[in-house]
Amino acid sequence: MRHGNVDLGLLRTGAHSPSVFALSRSMGEGSTPIVDFCIPCNPYFPTPEMFAALSQNLESILKYYPSDSGSITAKLCSVLGLHPQTVAMANGSTELITWLDHLMIKESIAIPIPTFGRWTDQPLETGKRVDMYPLQEADGYALDLEEYVAFIRSRGSRVAVICNPNNPDGGFLPRREVLRFVDALTDLDLVVVDESFIDFVEAERQPSIAPDAAIRPNVVVLKSLGKNFGLHGIRFGYLVANPQIAGKIAKVLPKWNLNSLAETVVHMIQDYETEYRESLRLLARDRYSMADELNRVPGLTVFPSQGNFLLVKLPPGWSGVDLRDFLLSRHGLYVRECGNKLGMTSQFLRFVVRPTDDVRQLVDGMLSYGRYLHGEAERYSSPDPLTDDRYGLSSLSSASPEPDNLIPYPRSRSRLAASAN
Ligand SMILES: Cc1ncc(COP(=O)(O)O)c(C=O)c1O
Repeated sequence: MRHGNVDLGLLRTGAHSPSVFALSRSMGEGSTPIVDFCIPCNPYFPTPEMFAALSQNLESILKYYPSDSGSITAKLCSVLGLHPQTVAMANGSTELITWLDHLMIKESIAIPIPTFGRWTDQPLETGKRVDMYPLQEADGYALDLEEYVAFIRSRGSRVAVICNPNNPDGGFLPRREVLRFVDALTDLDLVVVDESFIDFVEAERQPSIAPDAAIRPNVVVLKSLGKNFGLHGIRFGYLVANPQIAGKIAKVLPKWNLNSLAETVVHMIQDYETEYRESLRLLARDRYSMADELNRVPGLTVFPSQGNFLLVKLPPGWSGVDLRDFLLSRHGLYVRECGNKLGMTSQFLRFVVRPTDDVRQLVDGMLSYGRYLHGEAERYSSPDPLTDDRYGLSSLSSASPEPDNLIPYPRSRSRLAASAN
């Protein structure tokens, strides 16, 4: 199905959202870029200066082989203060989830849901038993670790995972509690703490248990550099574990599995640490103001988050699928509708934290969807609601080139930014 210039059919194809590239291609050349509220990325990093440096060196970055992954990992470790033998670096943490599944998840895995889809889909695809522990809306999707341990024991799960903060709700667990959790499960084959979003946490100064994982028998901490460095396209992530586990994973990875862009960025981050810290500060500030701004939408519930995204529950009667399509085709705003996430429904959307101007557009888009819905209801009692401006719908009708296109994409917007995939 097509609305305006965007192929909305792309949104209905699988468990994961289509890339911004795929959506943009469907819109054709010269279209206004979409604003990405879907893929959780740091909008303040890299800085324009860093991008300029990368662009300047692009030719040699792309032309030559990168260093082998051991050298790039050693550099990352020297920057982050980690022991190289405790780290394995790969093309995004998704690659590491895949290898952990192949090498270390033998029969069963426990995971709270809703969560990042690969944590359930990957082991299911390879025939493992996935023990899903449902987080409750009534508890704000908070994870009670003691109850989760009891669940793991009752199911006899051999591997346990938590995401801290969790995706899609942004729920956060303090370091002390996470350590108590992993220490209660030393008899398991593996305990994974996925800290892909932990740099966005503001509630605690040192929330990561990575240094603790390195000296424990069965704990892996997972990190995704794409999210906090705002560079999903480069595909880099790493794990921290004791040398035996880290070595086992590092050994199966190809020698030149990391690309030259990843290598270049790893060598740059030291010089831009101040800018990186500032980007995290700005993001935490935006998270507060975004929650405030979203409260302008009557009936919307915003869940507290320590990630770079906010989970919301829509007002009664609103459809997440329709709203997502409306925002994309009418306002060029790309949001994550959570109906295809296990443990969620279409009443929930996840919004990436973005600067205030973008959030205002999002809230205005949602308010106009509310008016649109109201107008649709009224349409049955009014002969021609699209020419009646009571609900602001006349602009929809005049901008629509196609008779069935009630929610066309506007061509006139001037300043919009699309983040990478
Ligand atoms: C909790 C969690 N872990 C891992 C990933 C995968 O990240 P990467 O892009 O590094 O593969 C995601 C992606 O959204 C995620 O939400």
